Amino acid sequence: MKKENNPQLMEKIISLCKRRGFVFPGSEIYGGLANSFDYGPLGVELKNNIKNLWWKRFVQQRDDMVGIDAALIMNPKVWEASGHLENFSDPLVECQICHERFRCDDPFSEETTKEMAKHIFKKHPDRIGRGTEYKWEEHYAKPKQFNLMLKTFLGPVENNDSIVYFRPEIAQSMFVDFKNVLDTTRRKLPFGIASQGKAFRNEITPGNFIFRTREFNLMELEYFISENEWEKWFEYWKEEMKNWLKELGVNLKHVHEIEIPEGERAHYSKRTIDFEYDYPFGRKELYGLAYRNDFDLKRHFKEPPYEDAESGEKFYPHVIEPTFGLDRSILVSLLEAYHEEEGRIVLKLPVKLAPYKVAVFPLLKNKPELVEKAREVYGALRKQFTVAFDDRGNIGKRYYSQDEIGTPFCITVDFDTLKNDDVTVRDRDTMKQERIKIKDLQTYINGKLI
Ligand code: GAP
Repeated sequence: MKKENNPQLMEKIISLCKRRGFVFPGSEIYGGLANSFDYGPLGVELKNNIKNLWWKRFVQQRDDMVGIDAALIMNPKVWEASGHLENFSDPLVECQICHERFRCDDPFSEETTKEMAKHIFKKHPDRIGRGTEYKWEEHYAKPKQFNLMLKTFLGPVENNDSIVYFRPEIAQSMFVDFKNVLDTTRRKLPFGIASQGKAFRNEITPGNFIFRTREFNLMELEYFISENEWEKWFEYWKEEMKNWLKELGVNLKHVHEIEIPEGERAHYSKRTIDFEYDYPFGRKELYGLAYRNDFDLKRHFKEPPYEDAESGEKFYPHVIEPTFGLDRSILVSLLEAYHEEEGRIVLKLPVKLAPYKVAVFPLLKNKPELVEKAREVYGALRKQFTVAFDDRGNIGKRYYSQDEIGTPFCITVDFDTLKNDDVTVRDRDTMKQERIKIKDLQTYINGKLI
């Protein structure tokens, strides 16, 4: 199915997510809250699978990486030093009539102009002169910079001294903890620190489902290197990010590497590549890769925090930062997996990502011996995999229901099972069925998880 410029696909994904319990609108019974979302029972499985796969790949299976899990609210001095309080902003334009604000990367771009025109026509039609050409400039203030840091107060007193910020990126905790990690792990360059968790940004215009929200999930790593090797490691991490995308089941034809020119890069970056994806609502950022040079460590540490064991030279390591939005990872894995074929909707998720690896059905609900055997198979497989049990409706409906949530294998217990101790295993993608002995099921499924 065509992914790009296909608004219908987005509607289908949103509807599937709600219908089957992947993603719900946040605070829905109170009318929602500004594009916030909750991951439901299947969504949390998919999300955890992606997080765990990332952690395994980039932390546990490497000699040169360690992880941390830092406090979300940090001393405000961190954000002063990092430059976020001064520089972390987006340009916005404001409607002169109702003061609603819009994000505008380029105020004269077609996208921004369309957005503004839409707003005026919908909300203030009385202000549009009939037959006159629409001039958005008359209704909008000139673009202003708007800081994206989300503020709150820590402790019982609400004054300037108790203002703190929810972190807008995880990166800073890995810089601030650099010396502690170094002292406790005795790592030598090159090595990295990785982390996963929530980040918050007071986005001007959140939107497009889980693509841009004010509370979101990040997976980031800071890879510390010697300055003279930055180009080599930048290339290396670019390839690693593409390999990760392949593991998520993303066709790299839908991904585009965009070199960000100097004036548009974040304040800390000497080189940035955005990985953009062909979303149904247009080509937009998925991940980023930045060469942060020694900007952050220099801001946080008065003395060089690293000493070369051989030469005794003290210096500030440089940093390559691959950053992965988790919610956008979830969105692209769903978009890539969504297929409509032969009268069914099927999520062809990689087996490792599927919320349920297996579903077990008794052929008939009203035959206690079949139900009992199916329960037995279900109980045994559950010790190792996430497994669904379904005895409602007919087998065809149960297949349809499991295809829609991406369950790779459906197992049916029938009358032959009682005689031969084997079951029918049906493959989600090929819809082919084969008989497998119950005792071989774990090995069979494990073989597909590699
Ligand atoms: N530490 C680097 C950094 O924070 P960024 O490009 O500003 O870089 C990192 O953000 C990633 O976080 C993005 O590539 C994107 O995947 C994700 N992201 C950023 N803002 C987001 C938002 N409002 N909602 C969901 N994901 C977001």
